[in-house]
Amino acid sequence: MTNLRASITGVGGYVPEDILNNEELSQMVDTSDEWITQRVGIKERRILKEKGKATSDMAVMAIQELLDKTRTKPEEIDFLICSTITPDMAFPSTANLIGEKLKLKNAFNFDLSAACSGFIYGLETASRMIESKAYKKVVVVGADMMSSVTDYTDRSTCPLFGDGAGAVLLEPTSEDVGVIDRILGYDGSGKEFLHMKAGGSLNPPSHQTVDNREHFVYQEGKAVFKVAVSVMSDIAVNIMHRNNISPEKLAWLVPHQANMRIIEAVARRMGIKREQVMINIQNYGNTTAATIPLCLWNYEDQLKKGDNIILTAFGAGYTWGSIYLKWAYNKK
Ligand code: UT7
Repeated sequence: MTNLRASITGVGGYVPEDILNNEELSQMVDTSDEWITQRVGIKERRILKEKGKATSDMAVMAIQELLDKTRTKPEEIDFLICSTITPDMAFPSTANLIGEKLKLKNAFNFDLSAACSGFIYGLETASRMIESKAYKKVVVVGADMMSSVTDYTDRSTCPLFGDGAGAVLLEPTSEDVGVIDRILGYDGSGKEFLHMKAGGSLNPPSHQTVDNREHFVYQEGKAVFKVAVSVMSDIAVNIMHRNNISPEKLAWLVPHQANMRIIEAVARRMGIKREQVMINIQNYGNTTAATIPLCLWNYEDQLKKGDNIILTAFGAGYTWGSIYLKWAYNKK
């Protein structure tokens, strides 16, 4: 079998019940529904409030739904990647914790840290492992509890983020579907503009790091915005061109959901219509590694076998990635 590819054969998702809307945020910091809606496009986000619950619990919910929908037994999964920058704890990995909770007893697993590009990095890694023929049922879950690293006294970042998890099942196929092309990259000089100052080995937690509010997302939004627009659209346009996908032939763009203005600029540069773009930022905000699989989850009913789909993301690092795939199934 020469043309073996990895195809997505199911999608699961989970967002917490608690909603934090723009009105409530406006009571917490000096902001307004109007500013957030116009500048970012978010109306509300989900927050995991339940005591004792964390990123792994959201991932477990998403993967459980995925297993149920695809009628897959936990022991059939032979590999799991959890993309996250908000692990339950520094170690063991969140993937380990998920494996234990779901009894994925045959799934070797690890966490992958690539911030908002985490799902794309995970999908690329997992699809190559399927292509290697060593693994047959692989789960990639993007899960982040961004509320655990968001400073709700900082109006420049707190409206942006939300919590959630999205998972896909990957299986080998010899049909003309699945992951076809990819462009991934990074630029480490972007660290300056988007990072978390403390909590790692460089600046371990201390009274001082807590007092200085250094355990939260730090972002220079304007600088990140400019690079995000140009990189996300460059890689998406490049992947369109080199696979001869005209705007009419593209069924869906699935962009990382960081800012509606970024999404619109990318779509414009690709020459596609808004109806071709998956958007759920208004409901969930930026859930980091979960945005892309949550879009696939929300739009699954509208996807048809053979649809040309381009995923594109940009995040802290900087990291970026774009993947071209053909959808593999019609939902029953
Ligand atoms: O997902 C990973 C990658 N991250 C991204 O892609 C995020 C990229 N950046 C962005 O999406 C945008 O830069 C933000 C949404 C973060 C900020 O939007 P902006 O249009 O770049 O605003 P700004 O930071 O340039 O601020 C413009 C003004 C400032 O006031 P002055 O100096 O013009 O008087 C800010 O103080 O808006 C003010 N401002 C706010 N006003 C009301 C900043 N945040 C708020 C707020 N409410 N929440």
